[in-house]
Amino acid sequence: MTPVSPGAPNSEGLASAAQARVFEALPEAQSAFFAPGRVNLMGDHIDYLGGVVLPMSLTEGTVLAGVPKARRGEGGLEVWALDASEKALLSSTDLERPLGDWRRRLVAVLAALGLTPEAVPFRIAISGTLAGGGLSSSASFALVLARWLREEGLGEAFESWSLARMLQTVERDHAGVACGLMDPLAIDLGTVDGALRLDCEQGTAIPVPLGFSQAAFALVHCGVGRRLEDGAYNRVRATLATALAAEGFPGDRLPPPAAPVQAAPLRHVQSEQARVWAGSEALASGDAAAFGALMDASHRSLAEDYGVSLPELDRLTAFARRLPGVYGARLTGAGFGGWAQLLVELDGWPEVQRILAAEGFPQAFLAIPGGAPRALPRGGPHG
Ligand code: GLA
Repeated sequence: MTPVSPGAPNSEGLASAAQARVFEALPEAQSAFFAPGRVNLMGDHIDYLGGVVLPMSLTEGTVLAGVPKARRGEGGLEVWALDASEKALLSSTDLERPLGDWRRRLVAVLAALGLTPEAVPFRIAISGTLAGGGLSSSASFALVLARWLREEGLGEAFESWSLARMLQTVERDHAGVACGLMDPLAIDLGTVDGALRLDCEQGTAIPVPLGFSQAAFALVHCGVGRRLEDGAYNRVRATLATALAAEGFPGDRLPPPAAPVQAAPLRHVQSEQARVWAGSEALASGDAAAFGALMDASHRSLAEDYGVSLPELDRLTAFARRLPGVYGARLTGAGFGGWAQLLVELDGWPEVQRILAAEGFPQAFLAIPGGAPRALPRGGPHG
C-alpha cells in the first residue's frame, strides 16, 4: 500500500503502485482507468436494511489498462490479473467456475452489462492497492471494468443506482456474499471533497465535506486479512433477520428509531443509524472530538452487539485510542479482520504511525477522498 501524504494533489496519489504495474505489463497502453476503493466512516451493517451510511471514496483503488486486439480471430477478452499473477482468455464458460473465482465474477459483470467476453476484443491488465479486507476491493474491481468499458463504447450505460443493484446481484450470485448497496455507490458517486450520505432506501446521495482543519482519517491494518466468501457475513445477516422477526419487525428493514428493541443485533443497527446522523453533523462542522467518540461507540457496538470484530481489531483499536492525538478508532466495513479506521490529529500522525508500527501494525496510510472512476492519461508522475 502506498502511503499518501496529506495535501498531495489527488491526481498524483491515485493507486500509483498499481498504475506503474499496469503500464509495465502493457507498455503500448496510452491511458489507464482508475476506480477508487472506499472507507465507510460510519454506519456499518445497516445498508442492507435500507439504512443511511457515510462512506468516502479513496485515492487507493484499482487500475486497468486495455489495448485493442489488432486482428480478428485473436479471440475475445484476455485479462492479466497482475496481483494474482494470472492471465486468462475469458469465455462464457467461466461462469461455471466456483463462487468467488475472479474470472467468474468478471464474466458475470460483463453479462450484467449485456456483454460476453467474446464481444470484448481487448487485452487488459488490472492491479489494485486495496488488499487486506475492508476497503471494497471487489466493488472497485467491478467498477473499474464497467466504467472503462463505457469509455470504450462497450456495454450499456447504467446510472449509478441501477449499476449498484446489478453488482449487488453479481456479488450474491457469483461470490456468494449477500451484501448491501453501499460499496458500488460509494465508489461510483465518490467526490474529492469528502464523504457521501447515502440513503439506501430513498436512493439519494448527499455530499458531506470533511470539515476538520487539523484532523484526518487514517487506515491501519490489524494484521489479519479476511474473505467474506467463507460465509461469516451471510451468517450475521441471517441472525439479524431472525432477531428482527422475533421482535415483530420486518427482516429487511431497520427498526424505527424510537422503537424499544431487546436483542443485541437490533441494538446495534438502531444505534448505528443514530450515529450516522450525529456523525454527518460532526463531520460537516469539523468536530473531531465528537466524531471520534462516535467511532469508539460504533466499534463497541459492532464488536459486542453485532459480533463482527476479531481480537486483533479490538487490540489495535484499543491501543490506538490511548495514543496522543487519536480522537477515535473503529473497525470499518464488514469486519472479521482487515483495516481499521482512526481519526487523528494531522501533526501527530507520523509519531502515531511510528508507535503503531513498533506495536506490530506497520501498514498504515492517511485516507484521502479519491473522487469517482475516471481515465488516467499516461505521462503523469506515475505513467
Ligand atoms: C460489506 C458489504 C456492504 C456493507 C458492509 C458493512 O462491505 O459489501 O454492503 O454491508 O460490508 O457495512
